[in-house]
Amino acid sequence: MKILTVRKRLPESIPVFILFEGSNINRHLLFTSLTEADQQFIHAFLAKSPLKDGYTHLIFLPSKNEALLVGAPQQAVFTHRKAMLMARKIISIARKEKVRRITVALDDFRASGTHLTRDEVAEIMATQFEIANFEFTRYKTPPASGWMFVEEVALLEKKPSPRLLKAVQSGKIIGEEINNARALANTPGMDMTPEHLGDMALIAGKEYGFDVQVLDEKAMQKLGMSAVLGVGKGSMHKPRFIIIEYLKGKKAERPIALVGKGVTFDSGGLNLKPSAGLADMHMDMSGGAAVIRTIAAAARLKVRKNIVGIVPAVENMISGESYRPQDVLKTMSGKTIEIKDTDAEGRVILADALTYAKRYDPRVIVDVATLTGASAVALGERASAFFTNHAGLEKQFREIGEKTGDFVWPLPLWEEYEEEIKGTFGDVQNLGRNDRRGGAITGAVFLWQFVKDPIATRDKRKEKGNASVLPWVHLDVAPRTTSIEGEFLAKGAIAPGTALMVYFIRSF
Ligand code: BES
Ligand code: ZN
Ligand code: ZN
Repeated sequence: MKILTVRKRLPESIPVFILFEGSNINRHLLFTSLTEADQQFIHAFLAKSPLKDGYTHLIFLPSKNEALLVGAPQQAVFTHRKAMLMARKIISIARKEKVRRITVALDDFRASGTHLTRDEVAEIMATQFEIANFEFTRYKTPPASGWMFVEEVALLEKKPSPRLLKAVQSGKIIGEEINNARALANTPGMDMTPEHLGDMALIAGKEYGFDVQVLDEKAMQKLGMSAVLGVGKGSMHKPRFIIIEYLKGKKAERPIALVGKGVTFDSGGLNLKPSAGLADMHMDMSGGAAVIRTIAAAARLKVRKNIVGIVPAVENMISGESYRPQDVLKTMSGKTIEIKDTDAEGRVILADALTYAKRYDPRVIVDVATLTGASAVALGERASAFFTNHAGLEKQFREIGEKTGDFVWPLPLWEEYEEEIKGTFGDVQNLGRNDRRGGAITGAVFLWQFVKDPIATRDKRKEKGNASVLPWVHLDVAPRTTSIEGEFLAKGAIAPGTALMVYFIRSF
């Protein structure tokens, strides 16, 4: 979709009026672009049927043009959250009404009570338009008239600064990369194998100029990654370990490490999931997809930072070779994991991935994973759970979440919980001793053990007297694996974590 910034409405483009309760349409920036007759027509229309919040009308004007009137609440209660939804809603209506080109006024999306700048709003709304215009059609026969997508959104702005123009294009890129991550996650398990996910990372690296290395089983064995290998054993599609290096920062700058769960299908393994639980398990590589496309976005946005991406990719399947409950796997870190439940596989593969990430001596690690159903029990479907050992990062992620609509809510990361993941026959066990109580937390605390682990490079720094905690954020995005009613996003994956990480790497 084209997103442009215009000073005047383009003739073939349909004007969209967001009408706040009690506001005067005469003052709307787009209104003056209409002919007198059209203006009078709209006045008469609104006099007869005042537009309430939540209602919309596509009306035909005397000039043969059309106009889309969208009812909104009083401006005073129009929050940034509502503004983001409004941007998506407009695209969704346009698609339904088969409108291909629209003009909106940027002013309409400036919510009350936010500290966002004009440029920020422009960027965020460009992203919202883009993600609302996405649908995963790859496996469907197109209708005779073709798929209906909005082709052009023009943002009307009286005096667009060069920075605003740039922000709009950045927002578009971020939206496109969120959509690319959604496409990866939506791809069925029959096609989305660990090897395929690796190929997709390689292709992205070629296209945007960053290094991607995909390790096969042999290479993983050499590195001692028996946790990833163990989870992957039951599948005919063998595991891969994806390593992305985007090094566009200063040589001496320690990288940001992004780690994503790449389970291409999660059957639960021998602890097989019940039918309902299998539903979206082809999306269990959403975290990995988010990491790959975040780095693609970083490249397209020309972020001058060092970033590494680590994605362990496996299929969790059942066969005579599957790993079993009570197997004990030796991780790359040396710690052993007692398998209590083969369905808690994400934390097992992430153990090796976090250990590998630490080889880069990163200044921060962010991991993103559809880790636990328990996080959705805790939060519902409207926020990802997140955990961090760093107060500054907690604040930062909450703010980014509010800003981008990639919502998060914190849960405790306390040492007291470590009791619950102590193993009997292994160093740690992959299921809380308290069964499923606080399941999202025990998942996070399990991962923490591998973040905390001392590593060679850090030990060296410790010797120099610079020992410090490695800042870490764990995003459990399981609650937001798929879209929900009223979000104005297509059915299927929504790529949680992508916007969070893109904004994070730019600002950190
Ligand atoms: N991939 C699932 C978590 C999940 C559930 C993601 C629903 C998205 C939607 C994960 O591997 C899993 O099965 N977790 C178990 C952990 C339990 C066995 C400790 C769960 O949440 O039930
Ligand atoms: Zn599982
Ligand atoms: Zn899983």
